[in-house]
Amino acid sequence: MSESQITRTPGLEAPDTSPPSQPCVMLIFGASGDLTKRLLVPALYNLACDGLLSEKFALLGTAMDPLTTESFRERMSADIKKFHTRKEFDQKVWDNLVSRFNYMQGGFADMAVFEKLKGEVKKLDTQYQIGGNVLFYFATSPRFFGTICDNLHKSGFKDGPGWKRVIVEKPFGTDLNSALQLNKDVLSNWNEDQIYRVDHYLGKETVQNLLAFRFSNGMFEPLWNKNYIDNIQFNVSEAVDVEGRGGYYDSSGVLRDMMQNHMFQMLAYLCMEVPGSFQPDAIRNEKAKLLQSVRNYTPEEVERYVVRGQYGPSLDDKGNVAKPGYRQEKDVNPESKTETYAAARFHIDNWRWEGVPIYLRSGKALWKRGTEIVVEFKKAPQVIFRGTSVANIGPNRLIFHIQPYQGIEIQFQAKIPGPTLQLQPVHMKFGYGEAFKASRYTGYEVMIYSCSHGDATLFSRGDLVEAAWRVAQPMMDSWNANAADFPNYARNSWGPKAGADLIAQDGRRWHEIVTEEVIKKVPLFKDGDMIFIEQVIMALRSKQASAGELLIKKGEIGRELYLLARGEVEVLDDSGKVIKVLKDGDVFGEIALLNSTPRTANVRSKTSCDLFVLDKADFGRILRDSPQFANAVQQVAKERYNLTVHADTLMAPKQ
Ligand code: BG6
Repeated sequence: MSESQITRTPGLEAPDTSPPSQPCVMLIFGASGDLTKRLLVPALYNLACDGLLSEKFALLGTAMDPLTTESFRERMSADIKKFHTRKEFDQKVWDNLVSRFNYMQGGFADMAVFEKLKGEVKKLDTQYQIGGNVLFYFATSPRFFGTICDNLHKSGFKDGPGWKRVIVEKPFGTDLNSALQLNKDVLSNWNEDQIYRVDHYLGKETVQNLLAFRFSNGMFEPLWNKNYIDNIQFNVSEAVDVEGRGGYYDSSGVLRDMMQNHMFQMLAYLCMEVPGSFQPDAIRNEKAKLLQSVRNYTPEEVERYVVRGQYGPSLDDKGNVAKPGYRQEKDVNPESKTETYAAARFHIDNWRWEGVPIYLRSGKALWKRGTEIVVEFKKAPQVIFRGTSVANIGPNRLIFHIQPYQGIEIQFQAKIPGPTLQLQPVHMKFGYGEAFKASRYTGYEVMIYSCSHGDATLFSRGDLVEAAWRVAQPMMDSWNANAADFPNYARNSWGPKAGADLIAQDGRRWHEIVTEEVIKKVPLFKDGDMIFIEQVIMALRSKQASAGELLIKKGEIGRELYLLARGEVEVLDDSGKVIKVLKDGDVFGEIALLNSTPRTANVRSKTSCDLFVLDKADFGRILRDSPQFANAVQQVAKERYNLTVHADTLMAPKQ
């Protein structure tokens, strides 16, 4: 889960007039673990700093660790210095908060412990005049959820005045059957409206904004269907590997860890029907309906529509292992079939989305950290542009940048200024950082705050969780039954080529979000101004190649430049001898952008490769808009390649 993100306020429009959280004792099971120190306590501290934590609040932590209230407070006081997310640390606010922290050692199966906890909660309740409200937070391994619920019930914790609510961390079950059982166990003593299942993605401002964006703007909802939308892509790339969590991850995999929960939540927000109101159940009903409409695949459909991957080791220049592959990670089975990458095409079988491909992709140890949702609209008819020099109209895209960059972008076509009709993709961008006075939050503030007010909008309901498992289950079954050809992707890559092929079989490709840093590595572009760089970014298309693919054939007229994002390619002479090996960040085929001469050598991929391609026609079009930069390109051509290029040739390449 993320340690921090930019949000404005914890789910509130007007922080200054918002009431504080409701009074409560927060009883955290598993309080000595990571979640408490990294996220829960910093979130409480943020609420306190913003005046959003009730003065009638106390925290009671419990776990097996032999701590006392004193040592727990000391530990939290040291940890908050590391994990708080404010620009400045406010010691006064912290001292007040930590003075309300308490700790009791104990096991979750021991009824005597529950009796003692009850006594302690009662004491705090009286001391802070709370009125009986208790928020139970299960920051433990899921195998304790049922037992804790049961023991809370048996010890009479639920009796008495005030509300009693439970927040449960993910994962909620490990497959459909265990989730059904867990719901049964938990709900045998508690009501659904007392159970708050956390999915920390719903705490992200950018995810919450999906609903606000869809339903508060008149211009998008009418287009939000199969008549206008061609496809939707959800991408959650993580640059990190399993980060020492091999023990947990090996029994999980990306489908359980990311897709079944975080990604399906985003999918539900983006694709659900319009709810009757913003009431929790109005929204959750629509989310559940949406997830129930996602097709549950047959084994043949899993084979056709889903791809799994696992990362291998990365090597240094001498061919030694620089970083281990997944199977060599600590606590991972050396023959593990656990997937660290998955890409899938889903079908939503309802009237709104029938026939619209919904692509999801996520993985670890990939080239970048970035979560984006790309809504690609159907293209405008080309025919009206016949007889003009407009050869190809690109699609409109609406891009939700969830993290780390937070914003929304719309891509469309615009006429390039000038006497002839030329189009160019351009974009409009809204960035949270520029539009709001952002402050950093953990994402858990809104969870604690909403739960205290009994607002379950941002929490998952039992039927929703089950519907999500129903979609995931056939994939898990198929994968268990079949051998996996792992590892099948390199660290720092875009994932296995099969992921690119999955979408290519529908005549589409993943929309990779390229950054300015990547482009500036290319000598030809490095001095370009912001406008130029942005235009190049918009024009690039992604391509993945397998080892041994011929990318450039000698003698052909070149029309593309290749930017090697990862991998190695070989430049070959006539006899097939390797004369040069190019690596990550290198560029080849660039002379084609400058001159229409035949390719001077063959270029073949030595390893699997991730590439960006820039077409000559696009480059010329961009230069027409930046004539001053054409001079710089002429200069580079002269110095680097000993070529004399005329500006006219550069800016008006043949289509
Ligand atoms: C957690 C997963 O739920 O989400 C992690 O267990 C993953 O494996 C994390 O890294 C991602 O969260 P975020 O907020 O960093 O996108």
